[in-house]
Amino acid sequence: MSIHLKNKLEIEKIRIACHLAAEVLEMIEQYIIPGITTGKLDEICHEYMVYQQNVIPACLGYKGFPKSVCISVNEIVCHGIPNDNQILKDGDIVNIDVTVIKDLYYGDTSKMFMVGEPTVAGKNLCKITQESLYLALNIVKPGVNINKIGHVIQKYVESHGLSIVRDYCGHGIGKNFHEEPQILHYRVKDNKTIMKKDMIFTIEPMVNIGNHNVHTMIDGWTVKTNDQSLSAQYEHTVLVTNSGCEILTLRKEELIPSLLINN
Ligand code: MF3
Ligand code: CO
Ligand code: CO
Repeated sequence: MSIHLKNKLEIEKIRIACHLAAEVLEMIEQYIIPGITTGKLDEICHEYMVYQQNVIPACLGYKGFPKSVCISVNEIVCHGIPNDNQILKDGDIVNIDVTVIKDLYYGDTSKMFMVGEPTVAGKNLCKITQESLYLALNIVKPGVNINKIGHVIQKYVESHGLSIVRDYCGHGIGKNFHEEPQILHYRVKDNKTIMKKDMIFTIEPMVNIGNHNVHTMIDGWTVKTNDQSLSAQYEHTVLVTNSGCEILTLRKEELIPSLLINN
C-alpha cells in the first residue's frame, strides 16, 4: 500500500520503454486508412514491437487479453480487441493503446486517429479530450494533490458538454503495468495523495459525447458507451520532476515540450 518512487536507473529504463511505446503510435499512423482492419493494424504493431523494437507487447496475454494492442473504434470506450473482420471506414475515430515492456519496465500510451475525412463531432471530441489531458499535465508537480488532475479534466470536459468516464483510471507504472496511485479523471472528495518527485504515472481520460455510463461486452473486454455515443481517449505516462513533469511518451507530432515547468 505505498507509492514507489523511482530511482535514476528505473527512470531511465521506463523512459526508454515509454519512447518505444510512443514510436509505435508514430509508426502506425500511415496505415490508418479506410478499408484496413483493426486485426491488420494489430499485426503490424505486433511485428514492429517484437521484431524491430525487441519489446514485449504488454497487452498480449495480460489477464487473457488476446491481442498485442487495444484498438477502440467510435462508441468503443477502451479495451477493444483487434479483429480481422472489423474494417475501418471514412469518419471513424480510433484509439490505439500501446503498452510495451522493455528490460522489465513498462511504458503506456494511447492516442486517437481519424480515418479519412473526420466528422465535426468526432474531430471536436478528440480535440477536447487531448486538451483535457494537456491541461492536467500542466498542473503536475511535487506538492499538488493527485485529486487536482480529475478536477481539471472533469471541469474542462463538462464545460464543452461532454462527459468523463468514471469506471477507468490512470495508474502508477514501472516494473508493473498498474501500480499505485490510481489517477481518477473526475472530482472526488477524500484522496489525500500528494504528488512527489520521481513518481511515474499515467493520465488517460476517456470522454464521451453522451453520458458517462459504459458497459463491458460479453467478450469480457470491449467497453462501450451505454448510449452508443462516440468516445475518445488519450494517454501519456509522466514523470514528476522538481518543478513540473516530463512527458515520457511524447510524440514528434505533438506541439508541447516534453519537459513542462508548472508554476
Ligand atoms: N493500456 C491499458 C491501460 O492504459 C490497459 C490495457 S489492458 C489490456 O491501462 F489487457 F486490455 F490490454
Ligand atoms: Co494506462
Ligand atoms: Co494504455
